[in-house]
Amino acid sequence: MRVLDEVTINANGVLEPLPSKGIVVSGITKTYKGGKVKALNNLSLEVLPGEALGLVGPNGAGKTTLLSCLMGFLRTDSGSILIDGEAPDALLTRRILGYLPERLTFDRWMTGRDYMQFHHELAGMPESTRKADCEALLTKVELPPSSWSVAVKKYSRGMLQRLGFAQALVGNPRYLLLDEPASGMDPTGVMVVRQLLKTLKEDGLTILLNSHQLDQIEKVCDRVIFIKDGTVSRVEDLNEKIEQEEHLVIRWLASATSLSREDFGRVAQKECLAITEINSDFARVSTAGSAATVNLIKALVTANFPISEVRPEDTRLERLFINSNKEELTA
Ligand SMILES: Nc1ncnc2c1ncn2[C@@H]1O[C@H](COP(=O)(O)OP(=O)(O)O)[C@@H](O)[C@H]1O
Ligand SMILES: [Mg+2]
Repeated sequence: MRVLDEVTINANGVLEPLPSKGIVVSGITKTYKGGKVKALNNLSLEVLPGEALGLVGPNGAGKTTLLSCLMGFLRTDSGSILIDGEAPDALLTRRILGYLPERLTFDRWMTGRDYMQFHHELAGMPESTRKADCEALLTKVELPPSSWSVAVKKYSRGMLQRLGFAQALVGNPRYLLLDEPASGMDPTGVMVVRQLLKTLKEDGLTILLNSHQLDQIEKVCDRVIFIKDGTVSRVEDLNEKIEQEEHLVIRWLASATSLSREDFGRVAQKECLAITEINSDFARVSTAGSAATVNLIKALVTANFPISEVRPEDTRLERLFINSNKEELTA
């Protein structure tokens, strides 16, 4: 047992858990079919303690393989993985990892509460706290108590997703690895996932989120890593504010003004890099960045344009994707 290694004694003589060291992946390679398929190719990355890190990349890039290696389900051919300084298959590591697989499987006859208690037992958690722990988690993911004793076959997708999250949180993991948690979900389900991820991050969990949904990643993550052909192709810090070209749709109430689209063009021209389209009540423009966008809106309001909507046409991550594809096409 290494229980003593997990804690430290602080200045007041109180036991505290050791600080998290994050996940360090160094040059891992993973092949399938006796080396014929190279899923991961000398991949290195770090997940910093407390951060939410997004993983994006095309199908077949190696994201699920990476998560499976981190979970200790698969062994790498070479390279190393350290999670809080330990190997993925160490017992200690298992205790600090929570995992939400891409496809959740449920025994459909089980109730939500049965399912949670089953996983609580599997995780080796004490029976004395089972009921209370499971109820606390079901409450945390906002599954209403009236659903706890209903068979999961009657759950909606959104409810199943909440249950999946609750299961991943059994045993209070430090790390949460999520493999496309919102794939195939309706807009409500997508919002459920987003809101849960925000709460869990505030609780201090370190999150690794594999998702195709760029807007989801942009809203939840601190950094994003692009994976391609089994290796890291790019790392972006989403907290870093950068001035970047903005593409906007601007609408105004044409019925409430005598100003024409020519007037719009005249006012907007000074603050825009380009006006790509002008109609009687909306325009598409691009500006040099957020400061120019503010100036543009000020100028339009000063000229008495009854602006009803200003909306970005694409997000920062979408733009990065578009630009990296352009780079590829011209390379
Ligand atoms: N069990 C497996 N056997 C053989 N090849 C596999 C297996 N799992 C994944 N692959 C291959 O490894 C590569 C990476 O797959 P995967 O990790 O699932 O990518 P992603 O999750 O990014 O879509 C793909 O070429 C895929 O076909
Ligand atoms: Mg996958």
